[in-house]
Amino acid sequence: MSNGFYAPVATLVVALATAFSASKAMSKSTPTEWSPPALVNRSAASNTVEVTLTASPARVSLVAGSETDVYAYNGSVPGPTLELREGDHVVVHFRNELPEETTVHWHGLHIPFSADGSPFHPVAPGEQYDYEFTVQPGSAGTYWYHPHPHHRTGRQVARGLFGAVIVRAADDPLASLPERVLILSDNRFMADGSIDFGDAMQGRIDRENGREGNVLFVNGQVMPTLTIRSGEVQRWRVINASAARVFRLAIPGHTFLHVGNDGGLFERPVEVDEIRVANAERVELLVRGTGAPGTHSVLQTLAYDRYVPQTRPADWNQTRDVLTLRYTDDSPAPPVNLPATLRPIRALDPAEATVTRVMVLTQGFINGRAMDMNRIDQSATLGATEIWEIENLVGMDHPFHLHGFQFQVLDRNGVAEPFRSWKDTVNVPKHETARFIVRFTDYAGRWMFHCHILDHEEHGMMGILEVK
Ligand code: C2O
Ligand code: CU
Ligand code: CU
Repeated sequence: MSNGFYAPVATLVVALATAFSASKAMSKSTPTEWSPPALVNRSAASNTVEVTLTASPARVSLVAGSETDVYAYNGSVPGPTLELREGDHVVVHFRNELPEETTVHWHGLHIPFSADGSPFHPVAPGEQYDYEFTVQPGSAGTYWYHPHPHHRTGRQVARGLFGAVIVRAADDPLASLPERVLILSDNRFMADGSIDFGDAMQGRIDRENGREGNVLFVNGQVMPTLTIRSGEVQRWRVINASAARVFRLAIPGHTFLHVGNDGGLFERPVEVDEIRVANAERVELLVRGTGAPGTHSVLQTLAYDRYVPQTRPADWNQTRDVLTLRYTDDSPAPPVNLPATLRPIRALDPAEATVTRVMVLTQGFINGRAMDMNRIDQSATLGATEIWEIENLVGMDHPFHLHGFQFQVLDRNGVAEPFRSWKDTVNVPKHETARFIVRFTDYAGRWMFHCHILDHEEHGMMGILEVK
């Protein structure tokens, strides 16, 4: 593909495509750096956020030259970004204008059961629901929202329902850095631009693999251009909103400073060459503009083998381009002083754990059982500290997610996690085991735990934890 002979042609095609998408994006607020709009706060009261969110069918252009019938939050794919501060009281007035039931799940937020938007609280077509919660102190981080109706999550997310949630702290050590939110997703399309859910054969592969699309998006744009000034340091909040694709991000010639995970910042930055983001996970990265003015680099996703051999896609080992990072012509910015420490993270103590639960993942099942809305799979005591051991017995990865509570990964295959972070989703690679520790500080309720490959979740890799 990228051999020398074809390079001039490929370059020309890329140049034309870039020019086209740039001129197309021109009508939007910023020329080349499109990001979802922010939800507008209708409340004038301090520490109060009151927003309106409507899910409805819409028709938008996702791939050049065609329009696609989608489901959208407030008409946009991805949906608008919900910007919050620790301590905010939040009310989301949600209205379902879809022809089917839905919910809005606030993935990763530690909020009451009534606001979790799980399959226990479906919102029927034409109905409204108010999601109401308080943003916990210490929860600053990057989260996201998506539908979670029983058996329909994958289809609704594929149709365009997902958006970012940013929680900010008053004492954010990185607040002075320019920031970008990058919502990664993928999709598949028919020739007429409609979303391709696949024939029966493809459906079987999707059930096994999770539905992957060949078209990669950042904030709903294909191969967008993001600008950086030489010498500048940018903070990227990356969300993997795809149903099954695992991204392995790298920018050739650059390293990243990995500064945060699902539940916010680490204690200190970690320098890495690449970073893996499984579905539903988030990472915060610092990207240092080490390139020269006027040059460009590419954010890529490297091959990652999460598959069983039978349904591994033919192109699984290909590196894919995700976005162009273009250096402005400005002379290099003065050096940026980055903090050596970010915030303290208090370790949850395994000695305080009163229960160890083992979750055995096999294809389609957790502990040998398929999801049943009428069955409580695990019962826990409010206030308890527990260790969960997630054992993946099969030959493909399963990203395990627990609703409502952030946890700390203790070890993977017996190897201690090198540093602490808050997470709500942990990818458990084929034939591996991960252990995490969690404390059920408050919020009694029935909380889902599941594989976040949406096809696996829908076909039964989900269970219910009751905390009371
Ligand atoms: Cu992203 Cu059950 O959640
Ligand atoms: Cu969740
Ligand atoms: Cu799975």
